[in-house]
Amino acid sequence: MPRDISTETPIRIAVLPVAGLGTRFLPATKAQPKEMLPIVDKPLVQYAVEEVAASGIPMVIFVTGRGKEAIENHFDVSFELEHQLAGRGKEDLRGLVRSIAGLLKVSYVRQQQARGLGDAILTARELVGREPFAVVLSDDVVDADTPCLRQMLAVFARYGRSVVAIQRVDRRRVSNYGIIRGVPVPDRHRNGRVFRIQDMVEKPRPAQAPSNLAIIGRYILTPAIFDELAATATGTGGEVQLTDAMRRLLDREPIYGLEFEGQRYDAGDKLGFLKATVELALKRPDLGAEFRKYLKSLDL
Ligand code: G1P
Repeated sequence: MPRDISTETPIRIAVLPVAGLGTRFLPATKAQPKEMLPIVDKPLVQYAVEEVAASGIPMVIFVTGRGKEAIENHFDVSFELEHQLAGRGKEDLRGLVRSIAGLLKVSYVRQQQARGLGDAILTARELVGREPFAVVLSDDVVDADTPCLRQMLAVFARYGRSVVAIQRVDRRRVSNYGIIRGVPVPDRHRNGRVFRIQDMVEKPRPAQAPSNLAIIGRYILTPAIFDELAATATGTGGEVQLTDAMRRLLDREPIYGLEFEGQRYDAGDKLGFLKATVELALKRPDLGAEFRKYLKSLDL
């Protein structure tokens, strides 16, 4: 595969759509964004932002909406809180809350109507400009030795084209995801885990699904996606689907899928959220041992 200029381009921007209504978590999300629900003691959206930072991407664009101000405040300096913590001698906590504000450069753009993931990405078009960028959905929490996005950046560096994260799912669950059809490409560093995508479909019925390889909420996209998003009609659920726009993009450019290494939790789903909470709590040095003891004591 010839190397072209774009293979040298580092990704500088991650777009985080956070405008969704979070109806699956009502009533918890009546007056607070679902992205602020904590797994142990950290909001979902912070896991996403930390993954972006750990992958070496310096800038985040949040696509927000009404009622999402808590996210803006979370990634800003809280002078009053810091002042009070300092006054009580809680320097470690003060450092902790300050460090969140310094993770990355942050910008915000508002999606005026909840018209779907594709529309949310299109809202960021002017801020992104004409460069490849990442998209991270904070519902998907990925626990991995090498951050999932970083694994994808290595594939982007190799092929210079859009890359989506994929994972095998139970056949009965395919209708929750974008599903791809693809062929593995020989890639000796990634051992059959990189696929050249031939087709994709948003939330198919199991009988219609081209495989059980599901798109997970991590994308690296070339800017050509914006023209396709602008031309994409509303699809599944009456929303503009990113999967439909990527399907159009396939006619112009190759797209790759990476079966990433790591544990992914669907924190947008109640059971997935609980699993993430239990497993990430067990891994915590300050809580894990006692929590394990407690779980073992339960008469299940
Ligand atoms: C979105 C995408 C879907 C993808 C999923 C990953 O769906 O539309 O293609 O598989 O994220 O989490 P949502 O979960 O927002 O319904």
